[in-house]
Amino acid sequence: MKTAERLTKIPPYLFMELRKKINKAKSDGVDVISLAIGDPVEATPDSIIDELCRTARNPLNHRYPADEEKGMLAFRKEVARWYHERYDVTLNPENEIIGLIGSKEGCHHFVLGRVNPGDTVLMTDPGYPAYRSSILMGEGIPYNVPILPQNNYLPVLEDIPTDVAKKTSAMFVNYPNNPTGACATLEFLNDLVAFARKYDIAICYDNPYSEVVFNGQQPISFLMARGAKEVGIELNSLSKPFNMCGWRLGMACGNPELIAAISKVKENTDSGIFNAVQYAGIQALSHERDFIDRMLAIYGRRRERVLKTLKNIGINFDPPRGTFYLWVPAPEGMTSLEFTNRLFDKTAVVVASGTAYGKYGEGFVRISLTVPDDRLEEAMQRIEKEFA
Ligand SMILES: Cc1ncc(COP(=O)(O)O)c(C=O)c1O
Repeated sequence: MKTAERLTKIPPYLFMELRKKINKAKSDGVDVISLAIGDPVEATPDSIIDELCRTARNPLNHRYPADEEKGMLAFRKEVARWYHERYDVTLNPENEIIGLIGSKEGCHHFVLGRVNPGDTVLMTDPGYPAYRSSILMGEGIPYNVPILPQNNYLPVLEDIPTDVAKKTSAMFVNYPNNPTGACATLEFLNDLVAFARKYDIAICYDNPYSEVVFNGQQPISFLMARGAKEVGIELNSLSKPFNMCGWRLGMACGNPELIAAISKVKENTDSGIFNAVQYAGIQALSHERDFIDRMLAIYGRRRERVLKTLKNIGINFDPPRGTFYLWVPAPEGMTSLEFTNRLFDKTAVVVASGTAYGKYGEGFVRISLTVPDDRLEEAMQRIEKEFA
């Protein structure tokens, strides 16, 4: 059976070799500790699970979801309330908010709703790999904008060549940033809006780590920038702040035309989100704010623990203040992959090679803090024993 050519354009999964090694080691009985994946291990709060169970018992919720292509109005209203309370951003739940099956779905459907075949779409390098796949499946042409430590991992918009900007129809931007952990400033967001307006570029601001910030960094939304709603949307998600990755619930907010375009794609692709999951989402947004603080305390502690080990083995750096990842420079003279492989071979600890996120990821590895404390402690002790 021949499958679609568009799939051949999607780059191979860079962890493949490592995954083979991990599977082999596991089958040989090695105790592998993975710090490579960003998927919280602590349970979703009870009140959210209770709300799911309660509403799942109502037969009305067993039918196709309410307002299939937009998400139920009660959920959209709650999102509007959250944005107002959290960011002082006013959104109309009727036409400026849509429910999503996670922010990843939003990335994909944003491309289908905005990008024509052959359009250039900007994304950062390093960056979340799903952007490239979505652009390619939508027959756009990805263009990598480097984000470098000397610029606090923010794109230098003036360095984007004018001829590229002129043929660009969309741009993915993501802060707090996966993989670097960098956070945006309001000043940058205002510049981004001006850039987008100048070249008629639709911004897809992917903000699923909005709440995961440390050391006094304040959560910010793209929609706080002046005129943001005229040029783009923000994607957000319940996955990371409420440990709900498996529940698949998120939202897109902002420009009404883009929201309508995504809604049209959804209307013809999926039939929305299980009502009970949306009710659970309302519960999360309205009652579980404190949970976020509790998780931040846990991640903050783990961050310090990892930084201590890195210092002990001679890796000193000033880590950015967002996400539950640490973007760590590889030791002098070692590539990302060499460091990743060396760590694995010597300690059976898995980290993600920076090159999995683009060529400018060379020289870095990404360590995720979403592992139980005792496993993280064990991993750090192994690393110190081997490398200190
Ligand atoms: C930058 C970024 N965007 C989107 C996602 C997907 O989030 P969701 O679970 O909401 O689809 C992730 C998940 O790791 C991510 O890192």
